[in-house]
Formats: sequence, structure tokens, C-alpha cells
Amino acid sequence: KKQTRFLGIESSCDETAAAIVAMDGDGRGEIIADLVLSQLEEHAAFGGVVPEIAARAHVEAMDGLIAGALQEAEIGFGDLDGIAATIGPGLIGGLITGAMSGKAIAYAADKPFYGINHLEGHALTARLTDGVAFPFLMLLVSGGHTQIVLVKGVGEYERWGSTIDDALGEAFDKTAKLLGLGYPGGPAVERAAAEGDPKRIRLPRPMKGEDRLDFSFSGLKTAVRQSAQALAPVSEQDIADICAAFQLAVTDTLEDRIARALQRFRAEGLAGDNQPALVAAGGVAANGAIRAMLTGLCAKEGFAFVAPPLRLCTDNAVMIAWAGLERRRAGFDPDGMEISVRSRF
Ligand code: KG4
Ligand code: ZN
Repeated sequence: KKQTRFLGIESSCDETAAAIVAMDGDGRGEIIADLVLSQLEEHAAFGGVVPEIAARAHVEAMDGLIAGALQEAEIGFGDLDGIAATIGPGLIGGLITGAMSGKAIAYAADKPFYGINHLEGHALTARLTDGVAFPFLMLLVSGGHTQIVLVKGVGEYERWGSTIDDALGEAFDKTAKLLGLGYPGGPAVERAAAEGDPKRIRLPRPMKGEDRLDFSFSGLKTAVRQSAQALAPVSEQDIADICAAFQLAVTDTLEDRIARALQRFRAEGLAGDNQPALVAAGGVAANGAIRAMLTGLCAKEGFAFVAPPLRLCTDNAVMIAWAGLERRRAGFDPDGMEISVRSRF
């Protein structure tokens, strides 16, 4: 059976990644190699991603990861049917490293090159892991993005809502930093919240009740700071209570926004005769409280809830190779060597 094989390259933030993914004639995928090198430790001391450090780390890691992925797949450049690299959005230094590596291989081996929007990679992953059919709704919640997107087809996306200030992961990270919990903040806040009383401190629910499907988290961050100042010096229990209140406020707000999106999806008759699906992606989708809320909400609204395995929810190159394969299958022309990277996309 004929398989089409793509090399995928991802380097838009603080993960350098290379992967080989295959697609069969029916559009089903298979992951052949999946390498991710996180720079987390290099940035931890600074409480966030430092662009200059990230750029250098991508340059150092890229060749080794690509070679490693090919070795694991036991193939060479000549066996590839195409190369896909993230060209944005993201930090420009890393994007240049990945895109130039991909183009160089494509040029030298005479293979088609596909420049991929990182968000398209996240959006299409659930089709690789769970075969989700178009159209579906996606909630993307990561360190850089907070969006509700209607995924109508390959290259056909409608943004229904996004954050007007901080991304949700950023709100978790800033809250953690404020409370001295370290970086990355999401897992630390979740752990602390498990020991806390979510009812002791009342935090705001930004945007709750509004018709448009946007998010706002900077007010919540300010409220966290004020609560911490009011209780200073904060005890371990105070920190746990603030984290629990924060997580509850976030979960409540998300539930309100997503419920509206699911109802709109249904009202517009988008699902036809199929069961509609909500797909979650991004690092924040790892949060247990958020997952539990989404599971319950989808059950109530008659949606299938699809959350790809965590490894494929956070940044990786499998999703980039897969997006390339999907674009090829959907009949998109490869991109030329002149396509350039963009920090905003
Ligand atoms: O998707 P991701 O790995 O990287 C990008 O931003 O692209 O997401 C990272 C974000 C960080 O802000 C991190 O704090 C957050 O996801 N995160 C979490 C959890 N695990 C990671 N947020 C809340 N709860 C978690 N368990
Ligand atoms: Zn991402």
C-alpha cells in the first residue's frame, strides 16, 4: 500500500522538533518518528522564554533532530515525498532556523516544500489521532494562543473568538510567578490548587455572559496580585487558596464561552447528521480541572470531546508534517523557496 512520507520541522517557540509522518491512500496517518527537544531548562531561570536563547538553541539542535528522525524512520532525504516546516506565528529566530533547514533539504533533494502555519498544525492534529471529520470546533489554549476556531476544512478556518489581552497559559504563568511558584506556571498552579479552597477568595469572571466569544485574562491576573497583596505575607495555604480560586475562575469563564460556541455551532446546523466534535489543543488542555469541565460540558451539549494525547497537544513536529500531508492531499500547491517566515500569521 502506497504511503506518502513527510518530514516535519517545528521551531516557533521553545521546542525544537522533527518528525516523520506517513499518510496512506485513504488519508489515514501513521507517526514514524517523533523527536522533541524542550528548552524549558534553559529558560526556567528567567521565568519565561528568552527569544535570544531560544534562537541559539534551535540552531544548535536542529540538524541533530532531523538526522535523528530520519535515522529512527530508517530513511534518507530521497525517500521523502515532501518537507513541511512551521513558518509562523512565533519567535522569528527559531522560525528562520526551521524554515531554512526545511527549504535547504527540499532544494538539495528536489522535494516539495510546504510552509505551515503553526496553528493549522494544532487544528489538524485531531484528524491524525482520532480521524475527526470536518467541520469541527477547536479550543486552542497554550502559552501564546487562546482561540475558538471553526475548522471547516484544510486551509478553511473561521476564528470565532480569541483573547483580547493575555493568553490563558500566560495567565497561569504570570499567576505562578506572582506567587513564587516557578516556571512553567500551569502545572505548578494546578498542583497548588489541589490543596486549596476555591471558595475562600472570590476572583472575577472576565467576559462571562457576553455574546461575543472572546476571552480576557489580564484583569484576573491583576485580581490575583491584589489578593496576594491583601494577604501578605502569604502562607502556603493562602497560595493554595488563591490558585484554587484562579483555576475555578478560569474554568467558569471558559465554560461560559465554550457553551456559547457549541450552541452557535448547533444553531448554524454545521454538523449535519454527524455528531459534532470539540477538539482541545495546547498545553493548558493538560489541566485536569479544565479537561473535566470540557468533558462534562460536551456530554451535556451532545458533542464528542476529543483531546489528542498530551504529547501531540503541546508543540511538536508531527502536527507540522501532518498539516503538510493534509495540504498536499487537499490539492494545495507546494510553496516556493521565496516563501518567508512571519512572527504574526
Ligand atoms: O502548548 P504549549 O506547550 O506551548 C505553547 O505555548 O505553544 O503550552 C504551554 C503553556 C504554558 O503557559 C503552561 O503553563 C501551560 O501551557 N500549561 C498548563 C498546564 N500544563 C501546561 N496550564 C494549566 N494547567 C496545566 N496542567
Ligand atoms: Zn503551539
